[in-house]
Amino acid sequence: MQLPEKLPRHISIIMDGNGRWAKERGKERAFGHAEGIESVRVITEACAEWGIPYLSLFAFSEENWGRPQEEVDALMKLMFKAVANEYETMMRNNVRFLALGNRGRLDPVLNAAVSHLEEQTAGNTGLTMIVFVSYSGKWDIQQAADRMAAEGGSSIEPYLVTAGIPDPDLIIRTSGEKRISNYLLWQAAYSEFVFTETLWPDFRKDSLLAALEEFASRDRRYGKVK
Ligand code: FPP
Repeated sequence: MQLPEKLPRHISIIMDGNGRWAKERGKERAFGHAEGIESVRVITEACAEWGIPYLSLFAFSEENWGRPQEEVDALMKLMFKAVANEYETMMRNNVRFLALGNRGRLDPVLNAAVSHLEEQTAGNTGLTMIVFVSYSGKWDIQQAADRMAAEGGSSIEPYLVTAGIPDPDLIIRTSGEKRISNYLLWQAAYSEFVFTETLWPDFRKDSLLAALEEFASRDRRYGKVK
């Protein structure tokens, strides 16, 4: 395995296809989400190992609250389990954990557990792993604009929940869908996109490596000429 020389500083992933993965196996959607957690673990460890500074994952959108209650509950339960169980792996891999989004919509017990994990890992200096929960791009821009107006600020960026985090260089979306789905609308201004047919539970190290190779072959000009 050969890592390309030109690596992104921030990789962001729209993890899609858990439901279809489960359906292909005649199982409930929650089964696909559970296997998706295994992909989260593998991809996070790979990014930590390869020295990628930032990995962010779109785990739950503002719109996802509209899914059947049973599925919302299953996703929240999985998130709670992950937050409770991943502490040691994060410490071992020197990972700093952040959860960004409309956090007030989360169950208070889950929200407190998330805050606790953020505090426990705050001193880690390796990979920053960001999980976007109850997040949408329009929500973020709106809350930033509201706070900016209230404080009499003049620039949006410092008010976005991603303030201080570099914009994603690479956004990967799995499962063959080719949409931004109200994700990082402001921050994706110059991101490179890689779309793959692979369903998220099947997205492992080799899939990430293929996306990194594709990224390395792109010529980024930021609207200028070379
Ligand atoms: C998309 O598949 C996936 C999600 C909406 C949830 C992703 C969440 C996880 C993998 C678990 C939580 C993550 C962390 C980091 C704790 P889909 O259900 O839209 O699949 P489909 O398009 O095939 O229906």
